[in-house]
Amino acid sequence: MRMAKLGTLGRSGFIRKTNDSMRFILTTFVGFLIGFLIGLSFPSVSITKLQFPSSIVSYVEDKSSGIKTQALLNHALTSTHKNNSKSGSTSTTKIYVPTNPKGAERLAPEIIVPESDFYPRRLWGNPNEDLPIQQKYLVTFTVGYEQKNSINDAVKKFSENFTILLFHYDGRTTEWDEFEWSKRAIHVSTRKQTKWWYAKRFLHPDIVAPYEYIFIWDEDLGVEHFNAEEYVKLVKKHGLEISQPGLEPNNGLTWQMTKRRGDREVHKDTEERPGWCSDPHLPPCAAFVEIMAPVFSRSAWRCVWHMIQNDLVHGWGLDFALRKCVEPAHEKIGVVDSQWIVHKVVPSLGNQGQSENGKAPWEGVRERCRKEWGMFQTRLADAEKAYYQKMGITPANATSV
Ligand SMILES: *[C@@H]1O[C@H](CO)[C@@H](O)[C@H](O)[C@H]1NC(C)=O
Ligand SMILES: *[C@@H]1O[C@H](CO)[C@@H](O)[C@H](O)[C@H]1NC(C)=O
Ligand SMILES: *[C@@H]1O[C@H](CO)[C@@H](O)[C@H](O)[C@H]1NC(C)=O
Repeated sequence: MRMAKLGTLGRSGFIRKTNDSMRFILTTFVGFLIGFLIGLSFPSVSITKLQFPSSIVSYVEDKSSGIKTQALLNHALTSTHKNNSKSGSTSTTKIYVPTNPKGAERLAPEIIVPESDFYPRRLWGNPNEDLPIQQKYLVTFTVGYEQKNSINDAVKKFSENFTILLFHYDGRTTEWDEFEWSKRAIHVSTRKQTKWWYAKRFLHPDIVAPYEYIFIWDEDLGVEHFNAEEYVKLVKKHGLEISQPGLEPNNGLTWQMTKRRGDREVHKDTEERPGWCSDPHLPPCAAFVEIMAPVFSRSAWRCVWHMIQNDLVHGWGLDFALRKCVEPAHEKIGVVDSQWIVHKVVPSLGNQGQSENGKAPWEGVRERCRKEWGMFQTRLADAEKAYYQKMGITPANATSV
């Protein structure tokens, strides 16, 4: 077992820089041989207990191309050297920590790193000097290259305190490097996927844990009257866990709630057309923002991420259900009026569907959006019903989303 592993490691470490194929074959062979010998003399020990003769280490170092291998061996070596005399008694000192994250119970708690971030690091130097600033906010745009100018304008409204993450649905990524900021952005590319598909896959709450606020935005937003730092200040001031900038009234406006008010910093409720709101504290009259430009606090996102369904990629209906994630929703969900945007309604991803039965691609996409909305409503209602039944509670009347 071990010998095979060592052999493979040796090979993959050397393969990059060695052009001479003869030398490569030899090296591989020697690697296998060493692995084999080690395997013979230590038939069943695991790698952290292996003690390598120093000649092996220096051999590997001499090969200078095998950085990976060398690092691994050195590491194995240091962890072995610590207390070799005790290695026989490990069975009595086995680690098992039930409070560790699920699946990681065999690790010493202090080595566990349950969360991550999007901070790029250097390949050299001291790791704790890698990051001149650790951004506290994250903004993601789901983009196609054709909207590059719009995105370039938008990104400029986000200060250096924001990590910029682009989800590319058209497969074009390197072209963006014409913009200086693109080189410090994170790029994720998968063709023809939606914002919520990416969000579910790449914005797990444990991955975005360092960010206080997360902006998950579309690409067709006009940001002339928007500044992200100012926006965050207002969101904090008014205690908004889920928010969006007010929308300039134009043909892109669907709901009264998200329409910008000229006379205030934020608003949290609205009047709608007669009969639209059964309860003034519920969507679409309050506790409601749209899915085109939402901003989530860290804790709200932890909840919302869990509600996103893997297969319902358009996110329709999600806006009506966001209120499930904060309490009281009509106070913690709101629209920021004094930092506002324009929804430009550029058809983009919607046109990337496939025509079926003689219908235009966008029609098929629109149809699926509606279907997903229905499916989401049903799932949510069923889930709540199941919960109440299990708890032996007579449900309050069905949630409408
Ligand atoms: C190794 O074990 C000895 C005695 O068993 C102990 O005194 C020493 O601190 C241990 N060293 C390390 C590095 O754990
Ligand atoms: C970035 O954050 C720091 C610390 O909160 C703040 O002092 C600085 O003004 C921010 N930068 C901008 C451009 O607002
Ligand atoms: C649910 O709705 C029915 C009729 O619409 C009503 O009679 C009943 O009191 C409601 N139950 C609750 C718990 O609100």
